Amino acid sequence: MKSMPGSLTLAVCALVVGLIGCSGPAGDGKTGKPAQPSEQAKAKPSDQRSQPPDKNAQPKKPTDTEPDKTKTPAQPTPGEKPQPPETPPRETPPEKPSQPAEPQQKPEPQEKIGARMSKQVYGKMPDGTVVDLYTLTNSAGMKVKLITYGGIITAVETPDRNGKLANITLYRDSLEDYLAGHPYFGCIVGRYANRIAKGRFVIDGVEYKLATNNGPNHLHGGVKGFDKYVWQASPVEGDGYAGVVLKHESPDGDEGYPGKLSVTVTYTLNDQNELKMEYVATTDKPTHVNLTNHAYWNLAGAGAGDILGHVLMLNADRFLPVDDTLIPLGEPRSVKDTPMDFTSPKTIGSRIDQVEGGYDHCYILRRSPDEKLALAARVVEPKSGRTMEIRTTKPAIQFYTGNFLDGSITAAGGNISYEKHYGFCLETEYFPDSPNRPEYPSTLLKPGQTYHHITVHKFGVEK
Ligand code: GLA
Repeated sequence: MKSMPGSLTLAVCALVVGLIGCSGPAGDGKTGKPAQPSEQAKAKPSDQRSQPPDKNAQPKKPTDTEPDKTKTPAQPTPGEKPQPPETPPRETPPEKPSQPAEPQQKPEPQEKIGARMSKQVYGKMPDGTVVDLYTLTNSAGMKVKLITYGGIITAVETPDRNGKLANITLYRDSLEDYLAGHPYFGCIVGRYANRIAKGRFVIDGVEYKLATNNGPNHLHGGVKGFDKYVWQASPVEGDGYAGVVLKHESPDGDEGYPGKLSVTVTYTLNDQNELKMEYVATTDKPTHVNLTNHAYWNLAGAGAGDILGHVLMLNADRFLPVDDTLIPLGEPRSVKDTPMDFTSPKTIGSRIDQVEGGYDHCYILRRSPDEKLALAARVVEPKSGRTMEIRTTKPAIQFYTGNFLDGSITAAGGNISYEKHYGFCLETEYFPDSPNRPEYPSTLLKPGQTYHHITVHKFGVEK
């Protein structure tokens, strides 16, 4: 396999804000002892892997992320109307409950806390902790809703080319539903987004053991990652923008990770239809950090069928081939002449049948050495005309096509069942398993350093 070219390594190193330890090319990529690729996988990496043994992040216990199927259809959240699909699904929709559920409680009052934002109680955790819902609006009529549980973005409402609003991010109806289970819809993922092989790494000769909550590997921060905490929130509003600052402190030893990590994630919406996510973290002992947001998108509207007709451009000419458990095999590989190539726009569905299981891969972003906030992806949904462009300071993006969605997660009082490929994720990240790969950009954060990254989603319409 070829090494990562020097220019790419330099670009990635330059971007590791406040982090050190980005070493040069080489390495055998086996530090984390991933499962050995089959011969076929070596030849056609993107095509030959199967799903991880435990079906990934569709955990088994209802208390974790699988919906409790014994429950009656979800109740619409007070203040948040069920959002029926804007266009009918392409394929025969699964059987729905005949009537959407009616709200049984009085809606919680909305408190206006600024010219462009309001706040209301969203629900209560089993221990009584209140979870708030913040609604941000802008002068162009866009809305972003987020809750303090997991920092989950529950709605991004944007107009189509006829001005019709739809929520274009996959959501659940209530806190109760989010607590019953969901595959990381809209949440903050940490300490480490994506996988760490065999749930272990070594810092300064000391081995740290993490939960193996995804087959043999550690996924998205473990059993109780940052997506399952209520974050401390404070509103911010300025000229042309409004937002929420979310804070969380993860104690030393949390989920097996060393060091007390103080994390701040700030979401803001401005009048240019930009949703900005800013991540800051500091630690008191060396530890590994890789934060992201895990929103699933369907620019036709959540629940409006699959996303295979979306046209995608990824500003990446390399990706990481993975083994059967979705751990990188080693060095990045060129997308040229493979179904992984989105360097020029094409529909997500155009070659997805040649990628076993669907896309779930880390793409390494192109950027010039002095470019901090580089273009990562551009997506167009041809029917609605809605567009989304992503820029980021992070070195890579995980493109995931909702392969593990299977219709068991519902919304809109049961009127929506999220079937396979009903949403896609573009998670801006470091590479998977970096703690065990000295040749990848380093995710090590040391005391005195600051992890600082920005990702901006810009929404629009194409006429
Ligand atoms: C990430 C992973 C996927 C899957 C989803 C959650 O995007 O790469 O494999 O685990 O999270 O279901």
